Amino acid sequence: MSAGLRKFVRFIAIYGLGRSLFKAAGRLRIGLPTFALRRPAPDIGLIGCGQFAFATIGYFIHSTFGSRILACYDVDPRAQQSLARAQRVRSTPASINELLTDPRLRTIYIASNHASHADYAVLALQAGLQVYVEKPIAVTEEQLVRLLRACRGAEGRIFAGYNRPFSSAVRHLRSVMPVDSNGGFTLSCFISGHQLGAEHWYRRPEEGTRICGNVGHWLDLMVHVLSWRGMPDRMDVSLSWADADEPDDNVSITITSDRGDLFTVTLTSRCEPFEGINETINLQHGETIAKIDDFRHLTIWRGSHVQRKRFWPKDVGHRLAILQPFQRQAARAWEEVVLSTLLMLRITDMVRARERLATFSFSEARARIQRQIEAAK
Ligand SMILES: NC(=O)c1ccc[n+]([C@@H]2O[C@H](COP(=O)([O-])OP(=O)(O)OC[C@H]3O[C@@H](n4cnc5c(N)ncnc54)[C@H](O)[C@@H]3O)[C@@H](O)[C@H]2O)c1
Repeated sequence: MSAGLRKFVRFIAIYGLGRSLFKAAGRLRIGLPTFALRRPAPDIGLIGCGQFAFATIGYFIHSTFGSRILACYDVDPRAQQSLARAQRVRSTPASINELLTDPRLRTIYIASNHASHADYAVLALQAGLQVYVEKPIAVTEEQLVRLLRACRGAEGRIFAGYNRPFSSAVRHLRSVMPVDSNGGFTLSCFISGHQLGAEHWYRRPEEGTRICGNVGHWLDLMVHVLSWRGMPDRMDVSLSWADADEPDDNVSITITSDRGDLFTVTLTSRCEPFEGINETINLQHGETIAKIDDFRHLTIWRGSHVQRKRFWPKDVGHRLAILQPFQRQAARAWEEVVLSTLLMLRITDMVRARERLATFSFSEARARIQRQIEAAK
């Protein structure tokens, strides 16, 4: 059996047939029939027509609402036209301005390169649209300030693509775990990530390093988990990398907080994980110990009690994250995403400066950007 066929069979076992077909169709750029009970009029615009837009956003929109994507835009016309053809998207505007001034649009999904997310989100908010912006929401503090300024008065209209908090495993853990208001959390994430060649666009200097490209997911998960109890303020951050020429890869980050929390994330990519990114997450809080194995299995221990759950298809939280604009009651608190972005940007600076130790304060960082938001009125 060829490696491609073997991967496809493995994907069916992990993600189910429908999602696996969409993943393959995204690579081949072919259309697939979908079945959805609800079929609202097309009112969604898509910016960025790459693999995530096709196989993940496209899959969950199509399987929920049918052909609801009205228009798509990409700087690469081949990506734009092939997604439009395969997913029966009627409109392929030649410019971002043409896309955003289409009066039929209500919602914009942004899944382009990282450096473009914040500015596209600002334009879409200014056009009065609701916005789903993939991670990271910004790759610089200036971008974050511009975005937050545009968000004023747009409360409840912007949603971020950080999906791990929406996973079945994290939501189940949250629903059964007693939270100790004085207790610290220990959270450890081990990530086998994709190998990215030197020419991959994530590597371009303006795209924010793999800290913005990948590690932001687990910093955001940490912030989400800590918010269950109440956020700490001050943190000590320590970085270790295996290769000083590539400090954003094969890197470990350790964070301790003024509320007794201990967090580690290790990103390793020395080999390519055949089934895609693989994550092991361990947590301890109060009397609870929990292990999430690749968002497919969850084990929770409390004293002598053990609970085991299996999630099939694997659920990293994409469905609920992507459907946030249409299920607003389930949407993430935007402020959590702002805080995790501030921490991510600080760690990005550390990696760039080869700085191994730093202190960080959420309240100071938040107050600093708030001053910039106000100053630019
Ligand atoms: N939440 C998740 O789990 C998850 C997983 C994978 C990717 N993503 C995100 O999805 C986005 C796309 O990633 P991908 O894997 O599909 O990458 P990709 O390279 O397959 O697609 C990116 C697309 O964006 C287009 N593009 C580049 N610059 C553009 C610009 N300025 N304006 C419009 N289009 C532009 C490219 O031509 C390409 O078609 C990224 O933000 C990535 O971080 C999220």
